[in-house]
Amino acid sequence: MNTKVCVVGLGYIGLPTSIMMASHGVNVVGVDYNKALVDKLNSGHMTFKEKGIDDIFFDAISKGIKFSHEGVSADIYIVAVPTPYNKLSKKIDPSYVINAVKDVMSVCSKGAIIVIESTISPSTMDKYIRPVIEKNGFVIGKDIHIAHAPERIIPGNMVYELQHNSRTIGVDEPYIGEKIKEIYSSFCQNEIVITDIKTAEMTKVVENTFRDINIAFANELAKICRQDNMNVYEIIKIANKHPRVNILQPGPGVGGHCISVDPWFLVGDYPNLALLTHEARKINDSMPEFVLERISCIMEERGITDVSRVGLYGLTYKEDVDDVRESPTLQLLENMKKHLASGVKVFDPMVANKNIVPNMIYDFDEFLDSIDILVVMVAHSHLKKNINKIKDKIIFDTRNVFELNKNVYKL
Ligand SMILES: NC(=O)c1ccc[n+]([C@@H]2O[C@H](COP(=O)([O-])OP(=O)(O)OC[C@H]3O[C@@H](n4cnc5c(N)ncnc54)[C@H](O)[C@@H]3O)[C@@H](O)[C@H]2O)c1
Repeated sequence: MNTKVCVVGLGYIGLPTSIMMASHGVNVVGVDYNKALVDKLNSGHMTFKEKGIDDIFFDAISKGIKFSHEGVSADIYIVAVPTPYNKLSKKIDPSYVINAVKDVMSVCSKGAIIVIESTISPSTMDKYIRPVIEKNGFVIGKDIHIAHAPERIIPGNMVYELQHNSRTIGVDEPYIGEKIKEIYSSFCQNEIVITDIKTAEMTKVVENTFRDINIAFANELAKICRQDNMNVYEIIKIANKHPRVNILQPGPGVGGHCISVDPWFLVGDYPNLALLTHEARKINDSMPEFVLERISCIMEERGITDVSRVGLYGLTYKEDVDDVRESPTLQLLENMKKHLASGVKVFDPMVANKNIVPNMIYDFDEFLDSIDILVVMVAHSHLKKNINKIKDKIIFDTRNVFELNKNVYKL
């Protein structure tokens, strides 16, 4: 393929996208302003763990992908930089996307296409991106074309989902959509829908909001059932036998860069309308505190007074990934700090950096020896493989991995 693609931002989304494209024959340069990250990639090392990704990475290298920390000239730019929310206003913080677009404008040629793959709230393109481009003297639709092509992949199954998920491309002009579709079609085997930009923006945010609200319902049920001594898991199991009911599982909270962030965009932009969305966010954000209360009750019931004998298993926001952003365990540790409870032990086999939080223990056996209560915050495969080692512990199982018995407590 002659088209040259530059992927801007080589994190959890930009890197898999760039190597997947390159391994399917697209001429790709990956750019990230983090020089250490680019150096690591150029020395032949992946920057995070993910099932099946190493093979794609080495294949992409053998097919000529380049990594650079400086901007390059290309035909199509795919921008995959962070889009956090402002903690006060709850609105999107578009600064990374704006800066990335400015960087692209300083190197691109006339006719380039800028695809924003980062998740953005509805009208972000109109409110922030179009004005920045026009202010730089470019005519949109002539000098530069813009598009929004949000990503749906789930960490833990990225390689499969990149190839098998349906995609959406939002554009002003359908023929630009077709050009972008050609690039994604190199690896995407599912339907690629072309629509307008605002529809694409809203669709992505709606998808994550739907997930958040459904998780919140399960979490609310867990709290109700706890108060009146009902088994939430059994109730959900039976209710789900109804042909039109599909309740999700409760858990210790919602983390990561998507579900715990994107619904806030709607709350920030539509405060008088996104009421259910706001409640769902509040319920999910309250779960780490609920877990903390349960730990305290279990300690009391078992006569354990020393919080340093409590061990949290799992620091990441979900199983079998190494991403700790916004994780329920981090939120729980924050809450503990507020309650002046310190010394709790933490273990996570997926996290290489053992200095993220205090009292992280590297060795699983040492971790188990140092605790009386094991709190399962994340159900990594590692835990399931080591079930024999923890049989004799008091377990607080927030992920419903273990059978209920006198030593196993649930949410
Ligand atoms: N992580 C997910 O599971 C997921 C899933 C779907 C969508 N998204 C969305 O994708 C976007 C990216 O998320 P992520 O998880 O990959 O973020 P990330 O933090 O892992 O990676 C972003 C990368 O962009 C780089 N960067 C920032 N500004 C730059 C610039 N101006 N020039 C060059 N590099 C720059 C950073 O150094 C970083 O390496 C976000 O909008 C996110 O909401 C994420």
